[in-house]
Order: sequence, then C-alpha cells, then structure tokens
Amino acid sequence: MKIKSANFVISNTDISKCPKANKAEFAFIGRSNVGKSSLINALTERKSLAKTSSTPGKTQLINHFEINDEWYLVDLPGYGYAKVSKTSRSKWGKMIETYLKARENLLCTFVLVDSRHEPQKVDTAFMNWLGENEIPFVIVFTKCDKQSHTKLQSNIAKYRKIMKKTWEELPTMITTSSESGLGREELLAFIGEIAEG
Ligand code: GTP
Ligand code: MG
Repeated sequence: MKIKSANFVISNTDISKCPKANKAEFAFIGRSNVGKSSLINALTERKSLAKTSSTPGKTQLINHFEINDEWYLVDLPGYGYAKVSKTSRSKWGKMIETYLKARENLLCTFVLVDSRHEPQKVDTAFMNWLGENEIPFVIVFTKCDKQSHTKLQSNIAKYRKIMKKTWEELPTMITTSSESGLGREELLAFIGEIAEG
C-alpha cells in the first residue's frame, strides 16, 4: 500500500471526542519508549508526524492520524512506566481500556514489544486482557536494528513458547525497525488487507 497522505487529526483523553468511528482504525500500543510514535513516522515516512522522545512517557494522549483519507492510525500513551505517579498511571490505564473496548471501528491493535528483551509479564498480561475482551491484536517487535539476528530469533521463540501456553492460535508477529525500515512493507500490507476487508 502506498501512503498518499498522512495528517494529524486530534489528540484527546476523551473517547467521545475521537473522530467519528466511520473509518477503519489501527492502534499502536506498548510500553513507554518501545517505539510506537517512531514506527508511525516510519510507516508514513513523515519524520515528525507523531512526537517521539528518548525519554519515556512522551505520548500522553490518544492521537488520531488520518491516512490516505481512508483509515486512522492511533498513537497511544505507553503503559508500565514506573516514573509516572500511580494516579496518572491508573488514569491512563482506564483511558486506554475504555478506548480499546469502545471503539467499534478498531480493526486491529498492534502491541509493540522491544525485540531486545525476553517476554515481560506486563506485555503478556496485556495481551491476555486483549484476548479476554476479544480485541484482535498483532505482536510487533521493535528496534530490531539494535541487536543480532540470533538474539532476535531467540526472543521471538520465547514469545511463541509463552503464548502457546495461553493461546490455541498464535497471533501474527511482525519484526520491525524504524531505523532501517524493516517490516514497513509487511505492516502496510497487513493493514491494507484488513482495511480493504
Ligand atoms: P512513549 O510515547 O513515551 O510511550 O514512547 P514511544 O513508544 O512512542 O517511543 P518513541 O517512538 O518516542 O521512541 C523512543 C526512543 O526509541 C526514541 O529515542 C527513538 O529514537 C528510539 N527508537 C524507536 N524506534 C527505534 C528503532 O527501530 N531503532 C532504534 N535504534 N531506535 C528506535
Ligand atoms: Mg509515543
């Protein structure tokens, strides 16, 4: 799929203020600093469409971007960032939960995990929650440029092993790098297939 246009629409904390749910929607979620905003920029080939930072906790709102006037990409705040107060963490948690459950045009959620790390409880627990709520998701491994192929394969194998304990069918897994562009075409093809239904 070709990206012809990518425009910021709105940022907010209030589900009722999100754009009308009349276009296919795809959300990026994952721990703070995992690379959600960077991957949105890499996908759209727009350097600063989504705001990125080397400090975790940059994205704090639900951010809607409209792509090709046809579908929405949504950048969400990260979860599991220790330095954020408990109150705001639970506020974000609620906001994300409400968003994920309420948005009927959300066709797939991309759960980003740092490919350098072994499976983390906070991520697998979140995926299990998605499953329980029947919210379709794909696992996206980020920052694959930062480590060897062997290490990457070993971490993916660990994910498969853990997921097999809970899931009959394993979710789709896509390896990416916002630096090298790895996985960009695959992600876009995946989105295109679902969006065009
Ligand atoms: P929050 O909004 O804070 O939840 O973070 P985020 O998940 O949106 O992460 P963001 O895209 O802001 O990236 C965090 C840091 O990781 C930045 O310093 C990026 O430059 C870096 N980064 C993101 N993706 C990649 C990647 O694929 N490769 C490398 N080498 N660095 C990356
Ligand atoms: Mg971000």
